[in-house]
Amino acid sequence: MYKILAKPCLKMALLSFKKFLQEKGPSVDWGKIQRPPEDSIQPYEKIKARGLPDNISSVLNKLVVVKLNGGLGTSMGCKGPKSLIGVRNENTFLDLTVQQIEHLNKTYNTDVPLVLMNSFNTDEDTKKILQKYNHCRVKIYTFNQSRYPRINKESLLPVAKDVSYSGENTEAWYPPGHGDIYASFYNSGLLDTLIGEGKEYIFVSNIDNLGATVDLYILNHLMNPPNGKPCEFVMEVTNKTRADVKGGTLTQYEGKLRLVEIAQVPRAHVDEFKSVSKFKIFNTNNLWISLAAVKRLQEQNAIDMEIIVNPKTLDGGLNVIQLETAVGAAIKSFENSLGINVPRSRFLPVKTTSDLLLVMSNLYSLNAGSLTMSEKREFPTVPLVKLGSSFTKVQDYLRRFESIPDMLELDHLTVSGDVTFGKNVSLKGTVIIIANHGDRIDIPPGAVLENKIVSGNLRI
Ligand code: UTP
Repeated sequence: MYKILAKPCLKMALLSFKKFLQEKGPSVDWGKIQRPPEDSIQPYEKIKARGLPDNISSVLNKLVVVKLNGGLGTSMGCKGPKSLIGVRNENTFLDLTVQQIEHLNKTYNTDVPLVLMNSFNTDEDTKKILQKYNHCRVKIYTFNQSRYPRINKESLLPVAKDVSYSGENTEAWYPPGHGDIYASFYNSGLLDTLIGEGKEYIFVSNIDNLGATVDLYILNHLMNPPNGKPCEFVMEVTNKTRADVKGGTLTQYEGKLRLVEIAQVPRAHVDEFKSVSKFKIFNTNNLWISLAAVKRLQEQNAIDMEIIVNPKTLDGGLNVIQLETAVGAAIKSFENSLGINVPRSRFLPVKTTSDLLLVMSNLYSLNAGSLTMSEKREFPTVPLVKLGSSFTKVQDYLRRFESIPDMLELDHLTVSGDVTFGKNVSLKGTVIIIANHGDRIDIPPGAVLENKIVSGNLRI
């Protein structure tokens, strides 16, 4: 089908396409899905209770932090890599990540490197910025994930006219999901280099998850397994709330832990899948994986991940499909996999400007690149924030807040329409602000809104 198969990613794209054509029906048999056995998902508190050894620095020196950095900030109206969006006091996701690791290296006198998995969409912009960290005590490596050709939904042919030419029409290509990490990391040669430097585990997470900091207790559990059996893969999961019903869950399937995503569930069982009582936890995508195991499985071609078919419509209206894989789906290919049920604070993703408002506010304090919930908040839960479409783009959102309101006592905030906030506004309890079409609401500086509904036209 392809004229040239010289590039490894084209061979991989072809393999993934072949798998897609061969797969008939759902990739899981619902009847075989079981709840994971008790000891296969351990509570974090139990892992923490084991404490830390005296030689924690030498344990840390075997770790590599990997951030998934292939994605763009399009969902928040930004053009470049998502990791370069400013999230807190002008710091970007990348700045915060570097600060966290630098702090770790300084505190423990270690040499934990940062690896960024870039895509053809993010590599150039990210590399330009990296010079900024030259003076930091963090060695930063990058490698590029693959680039697959988008497929015309009707004809099942590649959209690109010549799949050997890389500069052509970028709309014809896509990064095939974070499951690509195994092959691309291996093919880059970096995996071997790091193993050669004595590194043993990678801690992989989404760059937009501000809660994904290095956890010494989990690392120690991996390096010093209580039963002596090395665990090759840890997935951090956390308790589902009604807002997370779509997240992938860990199940027991044919004797192994398996991640099941909503897209794999037969329609008749979707409600059962979403139920908070049957499947209590979901995947945070914070993963700890043995480097030696990745190398072994990659060389045996034994990493099996289900293909996720992602339909898209290109700017010109052409319907295409992208065949993707997810990094967590490989859990079933590893030996002695384990789930750890971590506190919610380890899952702090920023997907929308509503999430951004929370992490920019006084609900969190920033310390050496890590965000922690302010002690001044009386409840440990985060308020539910829904900003309307006038706030979707980061630039519009920033323009609408003269300063970020005090949210320490907020439970719910819904904002819709043309609304702006003056300086030093305080929001408490449930606040709903709705400017109907053609109206505008300017919340005056210093206003305190407590359990209030504001609607109509209010200009200052
Ligand atoms: P996703 O876009 O997959 O986010 O990126 P998600 O949390 O699974 O789902 P959404 O946002 O609700 O749709 C998760 C992380 O993986 C990276 C992104 O940059 C982000 O850090 N990523 C994603 C890659 O590195 N490569 C990819 O091909 C896709």
